[in-house]
Amino acid sequence: MVLKDKVALITGGARGIGKEIALELARRGADIVICDLIEEVSATAKEIEKLGVTAVGYVADITNKTDVDQLMTNILAKFSRLDILVNNAGITRDNLLIRMSDEEWDSVIAVNLKGTFNCLRAAAKIMIKQRSGKIINVASVVGMMGNMGQANYAASKGGVISLTKSAAKELASRGVTVNAVAPGYIETKMTEVLSDKVKEMFETLIPMKRAGTANDVARVVSFLASADADYVTGQVIKVDGGMLM
Ligand SMILES: NC(=O)c1ccc[n+]([C@@H]2O[C@H](COP(=O)([O-])OP(=O)(O)OC[C@H]3O[C@@H](n4cnc5c(N)ncnc54)[C@H](O)[C@@H]3O)[C@@H](O)[C@H]2O)c1
Repeated sequence: MVLKDKVALITGGARGIGKEIALELARRGADIVICDLIEEVSATAKEIEKLGVTAVGYVADITNKTDVDQLMTNILAKFSRLDILVNNAGITRDNLLIRMSDEEWDSVIAVNLKGTFNCLRAAAKIMIKQRSGKIINVASVVGMMGNMGQANYAASKGGVISLTKSAAKELASRGVTVNAVAPGYIETKMTEVLSDKVKEMFETLIPMKRAGTANDVARVVSFLASADADYVTGQVIKVDGGMLM
């Protein structure tokens, strides 16, 4: 129960990696707030509460500043603090560069990069006042190595990595750490749509010869959210079975 009495917000927490992160932080004792676009967020919060912590789910769009401000107001009204922010919400809109529409480019940048910035800025204001906090951004190995058909996604995640390092430098003296995890190929709804050929291609690139699970990512996030990582900031930890070394 290393996170007992801590309050954690996980964006995109209704399903997939975000849900597993919320469950893992709850298993370690944290009270949980999840936000998501999808209504499933309430059912997920109920599932998390079964672990004996307080859990609340809000429908909120991280690209919308009013939604993010309202979310922070709700968190402070209920818990009077925010200790952990996990910027997990993200989308893909894959296409080859020359076929990529403005909408495909803009929507991915809006959610993955601007949405992360919106939540990070709002949470940092609270954490600076507390003089403590842990922010963990979910990037991707694609943000470091690029990927065919994912110019928008790779640029957004590369941006998240630079944002992580800049925020870490600004907030370090205020007792707030900012780190990122960069998952490789993880089995979720996001990757379910990939063809068997692409899935096989990924698995041949992974020295550990298996796709990652959401829980593989959640346990590294839990470490970064805990006091064990007090002297770790500005880092990007790959969780990819050795795919990118
Ligand atoms: N699955 C992978 O292989 C993989 C690899 C590397 C990085 N990631 C990253 O992990 C994170 C989670 O991915 P996942 O695989 O669980 O995907 P997912 O699609 O299963 O879950 C993402 C969640 O984010 C929510 N979301 C999307 N836009 C939102 C918005 N504007 N506001 C609030 N919530 C929003 C979705 O509704 C969904 O519940 C993403 O940032 C993704 O880029 C995933």
